[in-house]
Amino acid sequence: MAAWSASLTLHASAPLRQPRLASVPCSAASQAFRTARTPLKRLPSYRHASAVGARDRRQARPQAPFCALLSVCKMAQYSTRSDAGAPSVTQIATHNQYHSDGIDTSSLLPSPIAQFNKWFKEALDRTDVQEPEAMTICTVSLPPSSSSDFASAHSSWRGAETNAAPRPSARVVLLKGVDPSGFVFYSNYTSRKGEELARNPWISATFYWRALHRSVRICGKAERVTKAESQAYFHSRPIGSRIGARASPQSRVIKDREQLEALVREEEQKCSVPGAAGLNGEEVNAPDAKIEVPHYWGGYRIIPDEVEFWCGRNNRLHDRFRYTRANMDKAADEDQWTVERLAP
Ligand SMILES: Cc1cc2nc3c(=O)[nH]c(=O)nc-3n(C[C@H](O)[C@H](O)[C@H](O)COP(=O)(O)O)c2cc1C
Repeated sequence: MAAWSASLTLHASAPLRQPRLASVPCSAASQAFRTARTPLKRLPSYRHASAVGARDRRQARPQAPFCALLSVCKMAQYSTRSDAGAPSVTQIATHNQYHSDGIDTSSLLPSPIAQFNKWFKEALDRTDVQEPEAMTICTVSLPPSSSSDFASAHSSWRGAETNAAPRPSARVVLLKGVDPSGFVFYSNYTSRKGEELARNPWISATFYWRALHRSVRICGKAERVTKAESQAYFHSRPIGSRIGARASPQSRVIKDREQLEALVREEEQKCSVPGAAGLNGEEVNAPDAKIEVPHYWGGYRIIPDEVEFWCGRNNRLHDRFRYTRANMDKAADEDQWTVERLAP
C-alpha cells in the first residue's frame, strides 16, 4: 500500500490541464495552487517564437510555485516505494478524464500530411504543449538471415544477438520537418535504430500532446534523406551538437563517461575546434567550416501509409480517425487516402 495517504484529490471530471482541488486539508497546497496561477497566466505564448534559443529560454523560466502544486497533487495520486529489501513498486491511482470537443469529421482534411500540419501548428501555438516535435519511434529488429550477418551484428542490443523473433524497440527523437512525402528526423545510421532500419525499414511514430488531448500515430517506411538534406540540417546545428554527433558511437556500450569525453576531445582536435563541445563549461565559439556531416549520421524520412489522429474524450470514448492508402507510389500529400473511424 502507499507509503503516504492521500490528502488531496483531483476532481475526476477536471480537465487535465486545469486541475481543481476537491478537498484541501493541506493549506500549503491551496496556497501553492493560488500562487501558481498568476505566473502561469503571464507566461508568453510560443506563437511569435521562431528562434529555438528564445523558446529554450522561456522553457527554462523558473515556475517554482507551480512545481510545488504539482508535487503535492502527485503525492496524492502516485506512490513509490523502493526500500532496500522490500519489493520496489509504484502505484498510480489517477483516472484522468479527457475533455476535448473531439474531432469534427467535416473538418478533417483529405491528406494526413495537411491534417498533421494543422494539428502541429495548433500544438505549437499553445504555451502548454512543450516540445511538440518530440515523438516516440518504434523500429523492429530482424533475426540475422545468414551466419555472416550474425557474426557482423553488434551485440549491444538484444535482437541483434539472438535468433529469436523480431523484437521492437522504441525511443524518443525530434521531428525536424514535414514535407509532402513524409516526416523527417535525424540520427546515427549505425545506432540500434539505424541498424534495425537498415534491415527492416518499417517504422512507427507516436506524438502525444497532452494539453490538447491529442495523439497522432504514423506507420510507414523509413528512407534515408539525401546527403544534401542531411548536410544542410547538420550545418544548422550548434557546433557542440555537431561534434557530439561525430564523436558518439551511438548505442554502443562504452566503459565510462571519461571514454565518451576522450572521444569528444579527439574529435574537437581533428576538427581544429578545441573546447567546442563545452566539456570544460561554456562552449567555445570556434570557426566551424571544417565540421562536416559524418557518413554514419543523417536523416530519415518516414513515408506514411497509415496515419491515425486520436482525440481524447470523456469516459475513454475517444475519437479516432485512421488514414490509409493502398500503395506508396505517389507523394503522401498528393495520394488518395481512405479515412475510417476506429472504436476507442
Ligand atoms: C526529447 C528527446 C529528443 C531526442 N532526440 C533525438 C534525435 O532527434 N535523434 C536521436 O538520434 N536521438 C534523440 N534522442 C535520444 C534517443 O531517444 C535515443 O537515446 C538515441 O537515439 C539512441 O537510440 P537507439 O539506441 O535506440 O538507436 C532524444 C531523446 C529525447 C529524450
